[in-house]
Amino acid sequence: MTALDTSQIPARFQTVMTSLATAGAQLAGLVAKGPLAGALGAGVGENTDGDQQKALDVMADEMFAEALKTAGVRHYASEEQDSVVTLDPTGDLALAIDPLDGSSNIDVNVTIGTIFSILPAADTPEASFLRPAADQVAAGYIAFGPQCLMAVTFGDGTQLYVLDPDTNSFVLVESRMSLPTSAKEFSINSSNRRHWTKPVLAYVEENEAGETGAKGKNMNFRWVGSLVAETHRILTRGGTFLYPSDARPKYENGRLRMVYEVAPMAFLVEQAGGKATDGKAPILSLTAAELHERRPFVFGSSEEVDRIAELHG
Ligand code: F6P
Ligand code: MN
Repeated sequence: MTALDTSQIPARFQTVMTSLATAGAQLAGLVAKGPLAGALGAGVGENTDGDQQKALDVMADEMFAEALKTAGVRHYASEEQDSVVTLDPTGDLALAIDPLDGSSNIDVNVTIGTIFSILPAADTPEASFLRPAADQVAAGYIAFGPQCLMAVTFGDGTQLYVLDPDTNSFVLVESRMSLPTSAKEFSINSSNRRHWTKPVLAYVEENEAGETGAKGKNMNFRWVGSLVAETHRILTRGGTFLYPSDARPKYENGRLRMVYEVAPMAFLVEQAGGKATDGKAPILSLTAAELHERRPFVFGSSEEVDRIAELHG
C-alpha cells in the first residue's frame, strides 16, 4: 500500500485519501511506462457525454473503483460510467471522479490527471451528487507530469503533496496554497473564437491588446488541453482559465462536467484564494441537475474572474 502523510488530513478522510493515493501511485507507474504498458491511448469506446474513451480512461476507472471498495465510499460516480455505482453500502461518503482527465495527452507525454470530489453520502445514489457544489467536503486532483503530485482541500485551505519515487509515498510540501489575486496569463481554447459569446471575446481582446489597451498590461497565453495541468499552473502562479459556453452544437454549457470536473476544481481554487464562476454565479452556489451535465467554467485569480463576470453583465 502506498504511504500518504496523513498528519494534516482529518481523521474522517484518512482511509479514503490513502486509497486514492494508492490507486494514484499505481496509475502514475502505468503512465510512466507509456508504450511499454501497451496502447494506453488507443480508442476503446465512447462515454455518456460522447467523449472517446481511451484504454487508460477505462483502466484508471477500474483501478480507482477497486481501491475505493473498502474505503467508506457508498456511492461512486465516474465520468466513465453511465450511472452511480454502490461500492460499500455501509460507507458514509460519496465520491465523484474523472479517473483520467486530458486523455488526448496520453500519447504525447504531456501532463494528465485524476479529479475527485467527496460528499457525504445521501439516501439515494443520485441524491449524493445532485446537490449544491458547496456540499462538497473534500476535493482534489492527482497530476501525472514531471512529478506526480496531489492537491486536496478538506475545506480549510488547499494542500499539496508530491509522490516521492524513492519511497512511493505522498509527502506534504505545502499546507496552504495561495494564488495571486492578479494574473499575467490566461488560458482558453482559441480555436473556438468564432463561436464565442461577446463577453468572452471582449475579455480575450482586452488581454491581447496588452499595455496598449484598457487593461494596461501585457498578458501571456497558455493552453495545455488538460484541465488538471491548467489548474495546477494557476494554483501555483495565478492566471485565468475559461471553458465558456459557445455556439457549437452541444456547447451551450461549455465542455466541462459539473460534478467531477468543475465543482471540485472550483472548491480547490476558492480554498487557495481564487474565484470560480459560470459567468453568472459562483460555481459553489450551483446544483447539478444531471450526473454528466456540463457547466461553463471560468476560474483563477480573483481580479480577472471579477472582470470576466463584469463583462458578462
Ligand atoms: O475532460 C475534458 C478535457 O480533456 C479537459 O481536460 C480539457 O480542458 C478539455 O477537455 C479540452 O477540450 P477541447 O480540446 O475539446 O477544447
Ligand atoms: Mn476530464
